[in-house]
Amino acid sequence: MSKKLLVTGGAGFIGSNFIHHVLEQRPEDSIVNLDLLTYSGNLDNLSDVESDPRYRFVHGSICDRGLVTELVSSTDCVVHFAAESHVDRSIDDASAFIQTNVLGTQVLLDAVKACGGRRMLHVSTDEVYGSLPLDQPEVKFSEHFSLSPNSPYAASKASSDLLVRAFRQTFGLDVVTTRCSNNFGPYQFPEKVIPCFVTRLAQGMNVPLYGDGKNVRDWIHVIDHCEAILLVLEQGRAGEVYNVGGDNERSNLELTHAILDLMDLPKQRIELVADRLGHDRRYAISGTKMKEEFGWEPRRSAWPEALRQTVDWYLNNQSWWQRILARANADRQDARG
Ligand SMILES: NC(=O)c1ccc[n+]([C@@H]2O[C@H](COP(=O)([O-])OP(=O)(O)OC[C@H]3O[C@@H](n4cnc5c(N)ncnc54)[C@H](O)[C@@H]3O)[C@@H](O)[C@H]2O)c1
Repeated sequence: MSKKLLVTGGAGFIGSNFIHHVLEQRPEDSIVNLDLLTYSGNLDNLSDVESDPRYRFVHGSICDRGLVTELVSSTDCVVHFAAESHVDRSIDDASAFIQTNVLGTQVLLDAVKACGGRRMLHVSTDEVYGSLPLDQPEVKFSEHFSLSPNSPYAASKASSDLLVRAFRQTFGLDVVTTRCSNNFGPYQFPEKVIPCFVTRLAQGMNVPLYGDGKNVRDWIHVIDHCEAILLVLEQGRAGEVYNVGGDNERSNLELTHAILDLMDLPKQRIELVADRLGHDRRYAISGTKMKEEFGWEPRRSAWPEALRQTVDWYLNNQSWWQRILARANADRQDARG
């Protein structure tokens, strides 16, 4: 049966990949993309589908109660990506993170409650669990881990997760939550580490590596994440949380060396810089629940091939990121007056 999806934050990195994925995998479905087009939202990510009759873009905020309620009332389900997503920005100023990630999620939940009968999938992150030690590699985040967020970003996402849980417990809403590890792939805003490093290196610059470079992340290809989201949207049990990982733990140093190798550049291009405040040491996801309930495992995340394809994508799509860098430069100049 065909479905109408409301996707929030669909002009961002994961949201735009998800829209592509759904339009390819579910020819009967249609999508409304509600996005505020903040600094990280980019309609270029969706230029190839903008004239597809199954796709419609709405420029607006998830905090706009009237608009959100109107859109939710004419769709069958909601997939909620919209967020402020960059940890470093949340350390500079958490205000927008609380506004969008917490209050915006509340507006969406209120609308789903008011309209009744709609499923909402909330896209969250492994960062809500806090940090794992480096010396216990067997320990991974399961869905039963307590929430111990360490950055303002992670705290805002954990708050939204708890709101989603509370709306299930109190009002019986049909909600599901996914908590995913670090994504990589095409269309990621070039402030995040992989596109940041590739684009800097392509411009002849060095790459700044935080602290000792030993922090570990579990890297997943964005389309593996999108596939898992679609599966949980369609088959997940109401009220459940599903962790989604790439089974691909790498230290930041290992990641940086891999990028340099793929670009045939020397290690001297690395500059160690002061560590991020409160920098979580290690994230690692246990994929047991996704495997046991759905037989799902990541299929596209294995390195070096998946990383090579991603590095190549940024090298082959320089005009995509050069437009973003030019816009960011112009914004900085405007801000300086
Ligand atoms: N990137 C990752 O590795 C990762 C991992 C796990 C979970 N997540 C989660 O996935 C979601 C998407 O992350 P991303 O990396 O694609 O982020 P992104 O920053 O690339 O995209 C965020 C999108 O949300 C939009 N947006 C921001 N505020 C809005 C508002 N008030 N109303 C409507 N739209 C708004 C932006 O314009 C942008 O298009 C986030 O919820 C994030 O917490 C990300």
